Amino acid sequence: MIKALLVSLIASLTARSIVSGQATGLAPKKFLNIPLGQVKPAGWLRDQLVVQANGLAGHEHDFYDYVAQSDWIGGNSYYSNLEEAGSYWFNGMVPNGVLLDDPKIMSQTQQFLDYVLDHQDSTGWLGPEVNTTKPRYLWGRYPFFFGAIQMVEANSSLADRVVPALHKFVSLANTMLHNGEGLEDWTRTRWEDFVIVLQWLYDFYPEGKEDLLIDTMKMLKYTGDPWEDVFNEQYFPQEAVENLRNPFPVLTWHGVNMAEGLKALPSTYRFTHNQSDLDAASKGWDLLFQYHGRPSGIYAADEYLAGLEAVRGTELCLVVETMFSGSYLYQVIGDPKFADRVERITYNALPAELTGDMWSRQYLQQQNQIAAKNMTPNPFPNDGPYSNVFGLEPNYPCCTVNHPQGWPKFISNAFVTTPDQKSLVHVYLGPFNVNLTLANNNKVSVAVDTLYPFSDSLATTITAEKDFTYYVRIPSWVSKGTIAINGAKAKAVSPSNGLQAVPVKAGTTKFTLNLPSDITIESRPHSSVAVHRGPLHYAFDIARSQKVLQQNAQQPLAKDLEFDATATWQLALGDPKTFVFNGGAPEGGNLPSPVFDSGLPPFTITAQACPIEWGVAGDTFAASPPENPECAGPVQNITLWPFGATKLRIGEFPTFKAN
Ligand SMILES: *[C@@H]1O[C@H](CO)[C@@H](O)[C@H](O)[C@H]1NC(C)=O
Ligand SMILES: *[C@@H]1O[C@H](CO)[C@@H](O)[C@H](O)[C@H]1NC(C)=O
Ligand SMILES: *[C@@H]1O[C@H](CO)[C@@H](O)[C@H](O)[C@H]1NC(C)=O
Ligand SMILES: *[C@@H]1O[C@H](CO)[C@@H](O)[C@H](O)[C@H]1NC(C)=O
Ligand SMILES: *[C@@H]1O[C@H](CO)[C@@H](O)[C@H](O)[C@H]1NC(C)=O
Repeated sequence: MIKALLVSLIASLTARSIVSGQATGLAPKKFLNIPLGQVKPAGWLRDQLVVQANGLAGHEHDFYDYVAQSDWIGGNSYYSNLEEAGSYWFNGMVPNGVLLDDPKIMSQTQQFLDYVLDHQDSTGWLGPEVNTTKPRYLWGRYPFFFGAIQMVEANSSLADRVVPALHKFVSLANTMLHNGEGLEDWTRTRWEDFVIVLQWLYDFYPEGKEDLLIDTMKMLKYTGDPWEDVFNEQYFPQEAVENLRNPFPVLTWHGVNMAEGLKALPSTYRFTHNQSDLDAASKGWDLLFQYHGRPSGIYAADEYLAGLEAVRGTELCLVVETMFSGSYLYQVIGDPKFADRVERITYNALPAELTGDMWSRQYLQQQNQIAAKNMTPNPFPNDGPYSNVFGLEPNYPCCTVNHPQGWPKFISNAFVTTPDQKSLVHVYLGPFNVNLTLANNNKVSVAVDTLYPFSDSLATTITAEKDFTYYVRIPSWVSKGTIAINGAKAKAVSPSNGLQAVPVKAGTTKFTLNLPSDITIESRPHSSVAVHRGPLHYAFDIARSQKVLQQNAQQPLAKDLEFDATATWQLALGDPKTFVFNGGAPEGGNLPSPVFDSGLPPFTITAQACPIEWGVAGDTFAASPPENPECAGPVQNITLWPFGATKLRIGEFPTFKAN
């Protein structure tokens, strides 16, 4: 760790050196991420990670074909048919194991790392193509690299093995790229992930290879898809793309590629030093959510970008990739809009797409989802009818192995430091414990005690050896937030660029934030509305019946579930002024475990509603919300629940006018 900090200090000095007006090296980021293991989840958030470890994610290594141990012992089938499966799994389970101090998971990831490094061939190649005639394309390794970097962050003595192996691979990759080798369509879209790996080497372990590293970054970008054009307003698709012609390679409008591609321009900026790359990244982010966004925070792409209709799908892989990209964008650019949205996605879209116990996941989630079942016809032009079933691997296995990165990377990116490493910044709100050493050997520990987002109040205790300025993000949706430091009277928060500064003296500092917000209404297509309060989006939770469609032979807990509505969902909402937020504390002061399922969160909204005529399209998905519907029955109160706890739902409602 000490070596890493020292190297990073030198790197940031190098990065700022300007030779005769021309920037050299890598441009600094606005904030530095903190090595894995120094930011730990606490309270309910730790429990959520335990739920994930006790669910599908934590058991894949034991039984799931694509990553199962039994296959692996015999040979290199860790990588299996799905070239990237082991690589994805590793990327998610490394932080999962470290953040929980889970010896079983950590030994599995250590074995995987050892296996891959032990089988690097003499050319430098890493991966399942060693000793086979399989073609060598670069990208399947990138999630493995992210996992390996996280292992070094958590235990810097692993650098002695990982760093030389990476440099050897980079040297081979550089030659291949100059020879026009190693590229196919997926590698051409996902080049930025490798660029970020190269930047980590440059920042912490350059070993005199700076020029080669930067040349490789440029080769990746200039042989890859042109994200600055894809995200340009002139070409950006303003509706579902199935009837549009993409002027660029078709995979650039693919939902997961786009989620990863969000990192392309900020990573390019670091070697071009060109502000236009940051401006284009920021604009592209806005366009994506303007034309394809969801009240749950995410955007829709049921394989390809899917517009605004409430029954179109969002792939689970793109949820977790957008969270990771949003964290990177925040760290490079510093605009709080990225952090606000990542927090929304994490607390709404992510839990909505898995069962509460995290044993079954969807491939696609819908804002208005009145059934989760085999749908014929289905509303997804490029995905199968089984896509919204909750199960082991509906539609495609990638999200089974890729979803585990979501929660742990949210946690490890929840705090950052300023580039001088004098200040600590709390970015994503929730319960955490942090231990780290800031600049000037200032040992600091932080404990954040809260049920947020199921509470408006956060109590933070900081112990520091020296004075410093601490920062905490105040989300844009907060209204009349207050802060009380060391028992003094609460005063209004006064954030600058989304951050509240808190002066910390050597010793112990305690402060309490109270961050209330108003119920807000978002306009959606067909004059429909979505309801929010603070970080949470609220939806009508449709009571459901459950049918087991199939069970895995090795692991019966891994099962495919069909959900059908058992209650009327055809409802219109009334005047939002009558909506009431119910913000009680949970019994005993703790949230239930798990919390993201029907009836469990302590927060609800009571809303005036009436039954209406609202048809289905196909058999099993709702038609667009009807405009200006008449009430077909008496006005009543309904309860809206946090979206992440609903598995069948209406999230975008028609409205009625009271007579
Ligand atoms: C490739 O296969 C040969 C023959 O089985 C073996 O000796 C060698 O160790 C293998 N190389 C790697 C890197 O796995
Ligand atoms: C860190 O890695 C080294 C080298 O593999 C290993 O010997 C050591 O036990 C690891 N330390 C921890 C705390 O896991
Ligand atoms: C900076 O970006 C602009 C717009 O994309 C481009 O025209 C210019 O060539 C770039 N400059 C450098 C030094 O890359
Ligand atoms: C932080 O460090 C203190 C003192 O070394 C220790 O008691 C505590 O458990 C650590 N917390 C975490 C989250 O590692
Ligand atoms: C609906 O809820 C509001 C707010 O809690 C309450 O004032 C009103 O009496 C309720 N109406 C009915 C019909 O229950």
